[in-house]
Amino acid sequence: MRSRGSLNDLTYKSAPGSVKDSSIGLTKLMLFLITFVVGVVIGITSSSHFDRYFQYQAEQFDGNQAVTPEPDRSSVTVVPCPVVPKCEKEDCLSMGNFLAPKNLSHLMTDKELFWRASLRPLKAQYPYPRKPKVAFMFLTRGPLPLLPLWERFFVGQSKKMYSIYVHAIPGFELDVANTSAFYKRQIPSQKVQWGTISLFDAERRLIANALLDFSNERFVLLSESCIPVYNFPTVYRYLTGSQHSFVQSYDEESRYGRGRYSHHMEPHILLRDWRKGSQWFELSRSLAVGIISDTKYYTLFKKYCLPSCYPDEHYLPTYIQKFYGSLNSNRTVTYVDWSQISPHPATFTAENITEDFIQYIRNNGTLCHYNFDRTPICYLFARKFAPTALEPLLNLSLKVMGF
Ligand SMILES: *[C@@H]1O[C@H](CO)[C@@H](O)[C@H](O)[C@H]1NC(C)=O
Ligand SMILES: *[C@@H]1O[C@H](CO)[C@@H](O)[C@H](O)[C@H]1NC(C)=O
Ligand SMILES: *[C@@H]1O[C@H](CO)[C@@H](O)[C@H](O)[C@H]1NC(C)=O
Ligand SMILES: *[C@@H]1O[C@H](CO)[C@@H](O)[C@H](O)[C@H]1NC(C)=O
Ligand SMILES: *[C@@H]1O[C@H](CO)[C@@H](O)[C@H](O)[C@H]1NC(C)=O
Ligand SMILES: *[C@@H]1O[C@H](CO)[C@@H](O)[C@H](O)[C@H]1NC(C)=O
Repeated sequence: MRSRGSLNDLTYKSAPGSVKDSSIGLTKLMLFLITFVVGVVIGITSSSHFDRYFQYQAEQFDGNQAVTPEPDRSSVTVVPCPVVPKCEKEDCLSMGNFLAPKNLSHLMTDKELFWRASLRPLKAQYPYPRKPKVAFMFLTRGPLPLLPLWERFFVGQSKKMYSIYVHAIPGFELDVANTSAFYKRQIPSQKVQWGTISLFDAERRLIANALLDFSNERFVLLSESCIPVYNFPTVYRYLTGSQHSFVQSYDEESRYGRGRYSHHMEPHILLRDWRKGSQWFELSRSLAVGIISDTKYYTLFKKYCLPSCYPDEHYLPTYIQKFYGSLNSNRTVTYVDWSQISPHPATFTAENITEDFIQYIRNNGTLCHYNFDRTPICYLFARKFAPTALEPLLNLSLKVMGF
């Protein structure tokens, strides 16, 4: 209200001044020429004209106010996307950049990003030939020591079938050649602290950035210690052909499972809803949109899932079981070895890498559920691999993994 008043003051002082002067002159002339009463009548008419004039000015100001960002937000939000002179040559409303932003860096806040990423078309048909893509989302602290293996995995594959996203610590720049599949694929990142909600925030940031590409249909989370154990065509077919997402979700009765539940989450999340699972998920687009659109359950986890409760091990398994249970396979496609008694899974170094070991991850003789059928392929990816594992892996990748 206060600012509106000061705007009106401004209007009174400036623009209308000349109009006012001439009107007063006119009124004087009238007073000289016509009777006193007629003069009064004209005076009333012109003053009501002023009122209307000022009202219009004030509305105009209010209108501008709504479009102009508030000063304290302007530095964070409104980015003059394409510069105006450039716009005259370029089509600023082009479909290309809307369907898949070419430049992954942006200045959107998480709040703005998640809102944008939550938009989904109502129209069933796409106005372009949409080929579903797999989004490979790398959550890493710094460099990717197994990058040469991943490069080999992607080489020769059509960019219409995959996209890569990298969330590293702020300030870190992935140093890769412009021919690399990872070139310019870093997204705006924030600090991550293991075991806190900030870790899950980074995962959501990856999902949201990947959702901005309307062709991304499957979303897989990976880390710097992950490797693919099948070649790209197999991974692509397996994921895009699946009717389910791959989010491990199970009820663990011990203190490492149910023991981490907080009764403060009642009545929204009950103990019987509580699930545990691997952090390394694979999601369909509809689940990905659902997850970044949730505020209510995210907030409960942020408040009440504190160490020794870890949001990255409980939020997705619980949330998906509660709302998308029938769309989930309840298993993960990322192999990990928990056989050793340790709070961390086993790390494989150079001496552990043998043909037999990789074959065992690829197919150990067990069948897994896949689209209401069974398949010998349970895992597409595996972790955790030390940097020393790279050489022997490159040595056997073609023979054993087919790339
Ligand atoms: C990408 O966007 C960022 C942030 O808006 C901007 O600083 C940068 O110059 C852009 N890069 C290119 C190649 O357009
Ligand atoms: C890639 O980098 C090389 C030199 O490192 C340069 O000659 C080439 O023009 C670059 N290509 C593109 C598409 O930027
Ligand atoms: C996964 O679990 C949910 C809920 O517990 C269940 O509805 C669903 O059928 C399970 N998925 C498969 C593929 O068995
Ligand atoms: C990896 O190899 C080392 C040395 O042979 C062995 O001690 C270790 O148990 C192996 N690790 C796993 C997880 O098999
Ligand atoms: C093979 O892998 C499946 C799926 O993870 C697991 O349940 C099973 O115990 C494994 N079998 C052997 C013999 O290791
Ligand atoms: C790669 O394979 C060759 C032949 O199979 C072997 O001689 C060599 O030691 C291997 N190198 C590594 C680093 O494993």
